[in-house]
Amino acid sequence: MEKKYFENKLGIRKDIFELPFSPIREVARSAVNQEDVVQFWFGEPDVSTPEFIRSATKLSLDRGETFYAPNSGLLPLRETICDYTNRLYETSICPEQITVSVSGMNALMITTQTLISYGSKVVVVLPCWPNIPAIQHIIGAEVEGVSLKMKEEGWSLDLDQLFDACDNNTSAIIINSPNNPSGWMMNSDEQKAVLEFARKRGIWIISDEVYARISFNSDHAPSFCEVVNNEDRVVIVNNFSKSWAMTGWRLGWITAPSKLETHLEKLTEYNVAGPPTFIQQGGIIALKEGETFIRENNKRYLKALSVFKDWTDSQERIEFCVPEAAFYAFFNIIDCNDSLSMAKNILKNYGVGLAPGCAFGPQFDSYLRLCYATSIPKLERGLERLEKWLQSIT
Ligand SMILES: Cc1ncc(COP(=O)(O)O)c(C=O)c1O
Repeated sequence: MEKKYFENKLGIRKDIFELPFSPIREVARSAVNQEDVVQFWFGEPDVSTPEFIRSATKLSLDRGETFYAPNSGLLPLRETICDYTNRLYETSICPEQITVSVSGMNALMITTQTLISYGSKVVVVLPCWPNIPAIQHIIGAEVEGVSLKMKEEGWSLDLDQLFDACDNNTSAIIINSPNNPSGWMMNSDEQKAVLEFARKRGIWIISDEVYARISFNSDHAPSFCEVVNNEDRVVIVNNFSKSWAMTGWRLGWITAPSKLETHLEKLTEYNVAGPPTFIQQGGIIALKEGETFIRENNKRYLKALSVFKDWTDSQERIEFCVPEAAFYAFFNIIDCNDSLSMAKNILKNYGVGLAPGCAFGPQFDSYLRLCYATSIPKLERGLERLEKWLQSIT
C-alpha cells in the first residue's frame, strides 16, 4: 500500500479525507435550529410527486413487486425511456443503450467509475453542480474547469478555451446543459463542434441533461442524443427528479453506446443493484403521462422567473442574466466576495436560505443561487428580506 493515500490520522483514503462537504449543505446545516427560514437553497420543485405517478407505485407494491430488479433496469422502463427519447428528439435509441440508475447522481458516479481512470484529467464546464467535481475527486481524477462568461446577451462558452484545456491526459469533457446554476444552454452547433473535437481526440463526453425539459423557449433543450451515433463516446445522464418532481424517489437513467451496457450493468450490481421495481413502475407512468405536468410546472417557473427579474431590475448591486432553462437564478453581487459568509449572514440575520456561488466554482465567489421552483408569495417574501440585506450593505 502506498503511504501517500493514507496521510491522515484516520487512515482513510487521502482523496476522501480531503473531500469538502458541499458548501450548499454547509449553509443549510448552519440553520438547524433556526425557525422562519425562507428556503431557496436546494434544487427541487416545491410540489409533491403527482398522484398518477404515486398510484402506479402503490399498485406495484400492492402486487407484491418487492424483489430484486434486473441490474440495467426493468425492460418495460428501458423501452419506455427509448420511446420517450425517440419521440422527443426523433432518434432511434434502443434499450441496450439505456441503463436505469438510482438517481442522476448515481448515474454520474457509475459513468465516472466506468470511464475515468485514477490520475487522469477531466475538463468540466463551470459553473457546475458541486457533486460533479466531487465525484471526480472520489475517483482520484484531476479536474480542470473552463468557465462560462456572463455577457449582456447571456452566458456563453468559449469553445477554443474548452479545447485548449484538453491535453493528452484528458479522458472526458463534462458538460451540464441546461446548466445548474446559470441556466445556460448549449446549442446544437456547439454540441456538434465538441463532438467533432472529442471524436478526433478519443475523449469521452459526459453530458448531464437532467434539466432538459425545463426549457422556456422550446419543448426541450438540445441534446447530445440528437447529434451522436451509437459508436460515439458520449454518455448522457438524465433523471426523474426535476421535471417529474421525484427528487426523493432516486431514479435516473444513462444513455450510452450499446457496447457499454454490460460494463454499466456490472457497476450497477456492485454499487446499489438498481432502483426498486415499484419505483421504476412510477417512472414508466411518469414518462407516459407526464407531459401536462411538465408544461404546467414550466409555466409556473417562468412566472416566478419574471417576478425575480422585475425585482433585480430595481437592485443596483445585482447583475443577473435571464436564464433560458432550469429553475435557478444565479446572480452576482457587485463588489462582494466570500459567498459562503454572505449566504450565512443572509440566513442568520434575514432568514433567507440561498446557495453560495463558491459551491459552483471558485470564480463565482461573488454569486448567490436562488431556486425559483416555488410559489410567488414565498418568492416575494424572500425577496423583501433580501432587499433589506442589500440595503444593509450599501
Ligand atoms: C446538474 C445536476 N445533475 C444531476 C443532479 C442529480 O439529481 P438527482 O440525484 O436527484 O437525480 C442534479 C441535482 O441537483 C443536478 O443539479
